[in-house]
Amino acid sequence: MPMAMSSPMGLSLLLLASLTALLVVAPRLSPPPQAAAAAAAAAGEEAPPAAGASGAKALASGGGVWGAALVEEEADDLRLFRRAALEEAGGGAAAAAGEARGPPKVAFLFLTNSDLTFAPLWERFFAGNEARLTVYVHADPSSRLRLPPTPSFRGRFVAAKATRRADASLIAAARRLLAAALLDDPSNAYFALVSQHCVPLHSFNRLYTTLFPPHPSAAAAPRRLPSYIEVLTGEPQMPERYAARGEGAMLPEVPYDRFRIGSQFFTLARRHALLVVRERRLWRKFRLPCLPDMAQDMCYPEENYFPTLLDMADPAGVARYTLTRVNWTGSVAGHPRTYAAAEVTPQLIDELRASNNTHPHMFARKFAPDCLGPLLAIADTIIFKD
Ligand SMILES: *[C@@H]1O[C@H](CO)[C@@H](O)[C@H](O)[C@H]1NC(C)=O
Ligand SMILES: *[C@@H]1O[C@H](CO)[C@@H](O)[C@H](O)[C@H]1NC(C)=O
Repeated sequence: MPMAMSSPMGLSLLLLASLTALLVVAPRLSPPPQAAAAAAAAAGEEAPPAAGASGAKALASGGGVWGAALVEEEADDLRLFRRAALEEAGGGAAAAAGEARGPPKVAFLFLTNSDLTFAPLWERFFAGNEARLTVYVHADPSSRLRLPPTPSFRGRFVAAKATRRADASLIAAARRLLAAALLDDPSNAYFALVSQHCVPLHSFNRLYTTLFPPHPSAAAAPRRLPSYIEVLTGEPQMPERYAARGEGAMLPEVPYDRFRIGSQFFTLARRHALLVVRERRLWRKFRLPCLPDMAQDMCYPEENYFPTLLDMADPAGVARYTLTRVNWTGSVAGHPRTYAAAEVTPQLIDELRASNNTHPHMFARKFAPDCLGPLLAIADTIIFKD
């Protein structure tokens, strides 16, 4: 390969060969998206959340004026998600049954549109635990991001697309991260979505024993690990969130009483990660654009899609809370409280860890970039000290 590339003749031959291959193979590799979707639906490939609408109806609703463009745009994503699902049906099943080689891993999914400022802190968190974790980054391609000067993120960037607030692109990005991590390593057992503003609040070991508690009968029965995702109902903003795409737009797939809300930042068990990448019926609804007058304050579909889907599909399998602390008190324009350097103290770490749930919080957001120094200063003595 390097030899062929070094001669112009070799290069053009190579180009010609790959073009030919593309022309010959492409029609078979990429059926028209509609056909692929129909085939997948016929094969029963969608996760079956309880609300039972027919696949045909859902397909039809995806074919509106905007539908064709959206479906087109997603063809490559669709292929990625199908590949992840197919792999799982083959080799991945052994992993799901706990037969993967080596220990189960935690996949850290970094969703970012700016520099990973806290990379040095994450690096300290990862150190010595490399056999039990993996790292993936979805970086908005329009952001000019500097590669973190630390080894864990090198070569870990997945194919990414633009992400924006107030539309479904953050859902799509999270699905892409999940699919990439499912495909990449059958040992990935948990998938923790974090952003560039998130920081760890405990050591990796503490996180690991929280996610994989030592269990006397572990050998006897494969454990059904819970997903840590916030699932709320009856929040004041829910009627407007539900109607953000128009009156009745979510029907019939998502009746109002099945609609849920929760933090975008979750830690999903592998079976739920798979469920998400296979799912398309709800996704077709949640990716609909919000009405212009709702888009300002009521369009955060990433906070509705995941809790709604998982609560429909496996209500007993989710913890209903997240491991990621956020402070919404005094939030401005949909942004939570962002901590500044001067606020980083051992007391703050303590307060953020505290939780009313079974487990303390393992991560927190949002932290301003200038917090890196103060956080590193208390990393070993406070944050990673259990
Ligand atoms: C959350 O934010 C509010 C308002 O800024 C602040 O008073 C409170 O101390 C914060 N809580 C924590 C745990 O930092
Ligand atoms: C725990 O619950 C109490 C009472 O509802 C509430 O005031 C407090 O903010 C909660 N703490 C956390 C960390 O969510």
